[in-house]
Amino acid sequence: MPKITFIEHSGAEHVVEAEAGMTLMETAVRNMVPGIDADCGGACACATCHVYVEPGWWETVGNRNEMEEDMLDFAFDVRENSRLSCQVKITDRLDGLVVRVPEKQF
Ligand code: FES
Repeated sequence: MPKITFIEHSGAEHVVEAEAGMTLMETAVRNMVPGIDADCGGACACATCHVYVEPGWWETVGNRNEMEEDMLDFAFDVRENSRLSCQVKITDRLDGLVVRVPEKQF
């Protein structure tokens, strides 16, 4: 099972086990990672599952899709390495992935 590390804005780390086929957002919610609200339940319609992908992981995680790109306009403090975690599917290749949670979701 891929291990994913979520780092809160405060610096608190949550290392959790993910399941291939789930999304990064579902992994965070299932493990009660603070700061991932996911208000729309993964429909790419709220931007409250925003995370920052740590350097070195962008290519493995993959690029944003078009719908996600539009929805990110509504997210707080969007950066080059921003992704909506409901749009990232977990695969075994993501074992060791580190993402940061923004200070707030709006
Ligand atoms: Fe709503 Fe990701 S959960 S956009």
